[in-house]
Amino acid sequence: MAFIDEIKARAKADKKKIVLPESMDKRTYEAAEKIIKEGLADIIIIGTPDEIAANKGDFDISGATIVDPFNDPNKQKYIDKFVELRSKKGVTPEIAQETMEKDYMYYACLMCKCGDADGAVSGACHSTGNTIRPALQLLKTKPGISSVSGFFLMEVPDCTLGENGLFVFADCAVNTDFDSAKLSEIAKLSAESFEALTGKEAKVAMLSYSTMGSAKHDDVTKVADAVKIAKETYPDLKIDGELQLDAALVPEVAALKAPGSEVAGHANTLVFPSLEAGNIGYKLVQRLAKAGAYGPVLQGLSMPVNDLSRGCYADDIVGTVAITAVQAQG
Ligand code: ACO
Repeated sequence: MAFIDEIKARAKADKKKIVLPESMDKRTYEAAEKIIKEGLADIIIIGTPDEIAANKGDFDISGATIVDPFNDPNKQKYIDKFVELRSKKGVTPEIAQETMEKDYMYYACLMCKCGDADGAVSGACHSTGNTIRPALQLLKTKPGISSVSGFFLMEVPDCTLGENGLFVFADCAVNTDFDSAKLSEIAKLSAESFEALTGKEAKVAMLSYSTMGSAKHDDVTKVADAVKIAKETYPDLKIDGELQLDAALVPEVAALKAPGSEVAGHANTLVFPSLEAGNIGYKLVQRLAKAGAYGPVLQGLSMPVNDLSRGCYADDIVGTVAITAVQAQG
């Protein structure tokens, strides 16, 4: 069974409430119709009657819950929660109300925070920054986690590398500055994400342009130090590096460049040394190898909120909702 079909089967088995705040985008309704028909999640759409009438088209969303942000009996509860969480940052009730009415992603995150939704998906017509900033501000990280990062679940066709072509690539979406401690935390979160979504053991390669000291540079040391920190902090984690990509993936190259490593040649979870490398890397594999790229999925947040590419199709929204629902089950 394809990866996404397995995820959909898991989403159906324990339905979660997922909120879609982009009522101004037609793809939201096409996706909502499919999600409801397939029974993947209970859908909440945030929008005014006018926005819905203008964008819904002929799609049947009769099974969705519609929340009008200007006429919602729960609105005061969300305003109060917003102020409780952000008054130290200068958020007054007036600012809270204005922000929620202008940017429905804030509304969606507050619904999650108050227990009225289990997760949110947005980003079909908003940038990554605008999609995830409300989640970072209102939902915050899980206890013990310092930083949220973003991964792609890559499904490479006709590929025997990784887990028969399945990989997690991270961080491809969020952090613009990495130090060794942050990289080691991303490695641990990525391993957990790989295992939660695929059910297979993660083998984490910390990528570089150097393998086990073959080159000397501060950038290489940063990755090597991250491996040391990860091995000390998470002794059960299967992780190695620094590794070049070929040494991480190909057993014959690993035998030459990193003999004795239990990860090299078998890695299925690839942690990139910078956002540039991660973002360019996933797009190369997606475009040149025609791989499925599910994400960016956020990891480390206290509740599941996920982003979409602005070039996404309705089916990508359906897949991301299914992944979000499975994260919410966990
Ligand atoms: N983890 C946890 N919390 C964070 C993180 C993080 N990685 N980054 C920021 N925060 C918190 C801050 O501490 C702050 O909290 P506070 O307001 O309670 O003090 C809050 O989030 C806002 O932080 P800012 O730094 O003010 O927010 P900013 O908007 O400047 O940055 C953002 C956050 C949006 C994630 C930024 O780092 C960013 O734009 N990253 C790159 C996104 C991107 O363009 N990705 C590539 C495209 S994705 C694709 O191609 C699919």
